Amino acid sequence: MSSFKPLVFSGVQPTGNLHLGNYLGAIKKFVALQDGNDCMYCVVDLHSLTAQLVHDDLEDQTRQITAAFLAAGIDPEKHVVFNQSRVMQHAELAWIFNCVARIGWMNRMTQFKDKAGKDRENASLGLLAYPSLMAADILVYRATHVPVGEDQKQHLELTRDIAQKFNNDFSERIAARGLGVEMKMGDETVQGYFPITEPVIGGPAARIMSLRDGSKKMSKSDPSDLSRINLTDDADAISKKIRKAKTDPDALPSEVDGLAGRPEAENLVGIYAGLADMSKQDVLNEFAGVQFSVFKPALADLAVEKLAPVAAEMRRISADRAYVDAVLRNGGERARALAEATMHDVRSIIGLLQD
Ligand code: AMP
Ligand code: TRP
Repeated sequence: MSSFKPLVFSGVQPTGNLHLGNYLGAIKKFVALQDGNDCMYCVVDLHSLTAQLVHDDLEDQTRQITAAFLAAGIDPEKHVVFNQSRVMQHAELAWIFNCVARIGWMNRMTQFKDKAGKDRENASLGLLAYPSLMAADILVYRATHVPVGEDQKQHLELTRDIAQKFNNDFSERIAARGLGVEMKMGDETVQGYFPITEPVIGGPAARIMSLRDGSKKMSKSDPSDLSRINLTDDADAISKKIRKAKTDPDALPSEVDGLAGRPEAENLVGIYAGLADMSKQDVLNEFAGVQFSVFKPALADLAVEKLAPVAAEMRRISADRAYVDAVLRNGGERARALAEATMHDVRSIIGLLQD
């Protein structure tokens, strides 16, 4: 019996500016995973409707994220880069997953609770069902590996629960059609139609925090622009934001344990490590005993060195709208063919008549 072909999938929403957290937590990993893997990277425009329905410039935001993928070094010839809404099979599978997942699973999602706030009754139904669409994004390609930041971990656990429940509930119909694939679950070998996806989370930059408050994650929605470094910031803005970043009065410790209880210090060390492809301990080996008055300028130089070329390339690619649109169109066609093959099986497994 065959096993699942390794496939990397991830998505980024086209809302607001990309920031350093998105870059280090996600996009840089997307780039690294290209070597030796088949990858699909998606701008999830349908997800951006869950929090806000009407956008003035959704098309341009979608192009902007695409330009960032390309500027960071994703190769759209070797891999598939596309926008979600072009492949309607995502929405079709999401509907089926809405009927697989339980309301209780959705109600437990911390991102839903955060985004819905106090007035939960008034949140869109789409915001509640958001993880079901995310599971469909991944499983419509039967992707096996998903690189994301730490904040998406719970959604990926739900994706695994959905795959498992589908595999269990339809096990006989999957087997009858010869569509089961063997996979290892702990010590057991089980069969299913959907893989139990592995999250790819980790490293020093899986959760980059606000530069103004080490207890909040760096986010597009933070009202203070000083809290984040945008991928479009110029060298002056980057340096100023790092100079103004909140810190404590102590020097850097020599061991990672010494960062405990010092969230702002830990965050800046993590950012340095992420940018330089080092571990936090490597950074401390270099900067033990150093004051922030010295560490911050070193970090600012490194951030400018690493981010300025990406920002410049992003501007260059964004200016060529026809190119960006062609990448998305081409990626969409390739993705649609793959997604339709899955949906054909899924309709057959469920019993939805088709040609
Ligand atoms: P979003 O912009 O919410 O679609 O996020 C895109 C990707 O960036 C996801 O994989 C997130 O987990 C990741 N991400 C967002 N914010 C951060 C952060 N502060 N630190 C690390 N990763 C992040
Ligand atoms: N929920 C993710 C985020 O906000 C974006 C996303 C949508 C995603 N679909 C996905 C990430 C599929 C990975 C795989 O960051």
